[in-house]
Amino acid sequence: MSKFLISVLCSVLLSKYAVAAPASSLAASSTVVSEPSTAASAAAPISTVPYASNNPNEITWSPTTDSDPQPIRGSLGASILGPNNLPIDRQNPDLLAPPTTDAGTVGNAKWPMSLSHNRIQTGGWARQQNEAVMPMATAMAAVNMRLEAGAIRSGLFLPVLDRGYTQVTSMDADGQNYLATVGPGDLWYFPPGIPHSLQATNQSSNGTEFLLVFPDGDFSEDSTFLLTDWLAHVPKEVLAKNFQTNMSAFDEIPGQELYIFPGAAPDPDAKAVSNPAGQVPSPFTFAFSQVPATPLAGGSLKIADSRTFPIATSIAVSQVSVQPGAMRELHWHPTQDEWGYILEGQARVTLFADSGNARTFDFQPGDVSYVPATYGEAFSAENVGLPYGIYLGHYVENIGNTTLTFLEVYNTNIIQDVSLTQWLALTPAAMVQATLNLPQSLVDNLNKTKATVVAPMTVTN
Ligand SMILES: *[C@@H]1O[C@H](CO)[C@@H](O)[C@H](O)[C@H]1NC(C)=O
Ligand SMILES: *[C@@H]1O[C@H](CO)[C@@H](O)[C@H](O)[C@H]1NC(C)=O
Ligand SMILES: *[C@@H]1O[C@H](CO)[C@@H](O)[C@H](O)[C@H]1NC(C)=O
Ligand SMILES: *[C@@H]1O[C@H](CO)[C@@H](O)[C@H](O)[C@H]1NC(C)=O
Ligand SMILES: *[C@@H]1O[C@H](CO)[C@@H](O)[C@H](O)[C@H]1NC(C)=O
Repeated sequence: MSKFLISVLCSVLLSKYAVAAPASSLAASSTVVSEPSTAASAAAPISTVPYASNNPNEITWSPTTDSDPQPIRGSLGASILGPNNLPIDRQNPDLLAPPTTDAGTVGNAKWPMSLSHNRIQTGGWARQQNEAVMPMATAMAAVNMRLEAGAIRSGLFLPVLDRGYTQVTSMDADGQNYLATVGPGDLWYFPPGIPHSLQATNQSSNGTEFLLVFPDGDFSEDSTFLLTDWLAHVPKEVLAKNFQTNMSAFDEIPGQELYIFPGAAPDPDAKAVSNPAGQVPSPFTFAFSQVPATPLAGGSLKIADSRTFPIATSIAVSQVSVQPGAMRELHWHPTQDEWGYILEGQARVTLFADSGNARTFDFQPGDVSYVPATYGEAFSAENVGLPYGIYLGHYVENIGNTTLTFLEVYNTNIIQDVSLTQWLALTPAAMVQATLNLPQSLVDNLNKTKATVVAPMTVTN
């Protein structure tokens, strides 16, 4: 990471590139990092390009409007004459009437779970988001699943986040077992290949609903390993031999997979089956709901990664709350893609993907957001963390009148982000000044502590 930072600083120093870039695209243009780092004398580059537009580019209507929004921003655009899907247009002011700062091509970063096919079963349902519906989401995929009280979802594999009460059972490769009941806002994580099952208890009459996030964009819940499916595809003679019994013992096993199916609600206080080999050394569940949120200027933050949830080596979660008018500050992730999920409120996010490419999206509860760490064909998931990536700068603004709360999930063991403000505060002031042409007082007062969520404010001219 330090290599990357040094390289980006070089791009600030190289006035040749700073001049070539539009003034609004600043120094985060990391494509130039392969240039030699001659400590150039920083000529004032801004004077050689036009200033960035003064257009405030705020949203042109609220996503909760009941008006008939049109693709018009100031003097740009014109009304829709043909048919339009009004609810979708209302929810997406920044797609229908984008800010003039949006430009070029950035892939789709929004997927409402409402648009997913729903697999409805006796006892619940499941719907998913993966690379098939969101091509940019190469590193993670997710399933939103509902189980009525007592219902079981059996099988192998999986990570994540609970809304009701779910009893999880598992056994690791050393034959150590595990059973726990997790409540609303808690997490579970099962390493790949570790068998487990999930069953809703009756602690809530509604059963449970949860999100499963998988560290693989190709994941499909339709092709998970299910116990019933396996046994239905093994010769009965082999089953009898395996369990050292007669074939008649298998007369009534299910003839095809059971995915979600009803059952009697388990005792919420049940203990794992007694086991001479003992319980797993590191719990598969984590009481995320009990983690106190760290207060921030404009909201709060909770994190669960391998520092507090040691078994979770390939999924880390943060829950961010942003007050009305506040904002998750401009930042990027040096090593990992960000899979997001809106729990409540209204969000606005611009993805800046280098070379003048930028695109703004609006998000509502139940929407998946996806921000790759790096962007562009040369920068596949395997290359994340290399110093030459096109890092994807973004922010998350609360554009509603209520608290915005969302999850950020990463396929990593440790969450990392880089704050633009903190970086500039820790860069020599003269260099920042020469690059961005900001008022000296602003440069002098840049906060050296990462804000994560900046305080609410009403922006004026
Ligand atoms: C069950 O769900 C309904 C909405 O479907 C909700 O109104 C009700 O409060 C829920 N009950 C419990 C106990 O969570
Ligand atoms: C298998 O079947 C035989 C004869 O039909 C019976 O004597 C035996 O008890 C059965 N074994 C098991 C394990 O069920
Ligand atoms: C929940 O299930 C337990 C058995 O596990 C049963 O004793 C209890 O009465 C049930 N409670 C409700 C509210 O259905
Ligand atoms: C917030 O409240 C103001 C004033 O009541 C209203 O005009 C605006 O549409 C609301 N915004 C949202 C996102 O609900
Ligand atoms: C700098 O940021 C930290 C963290 O947000 C905050 O506690 C502190 O008050 C800020 N300092 C100034 C001078 O604004």
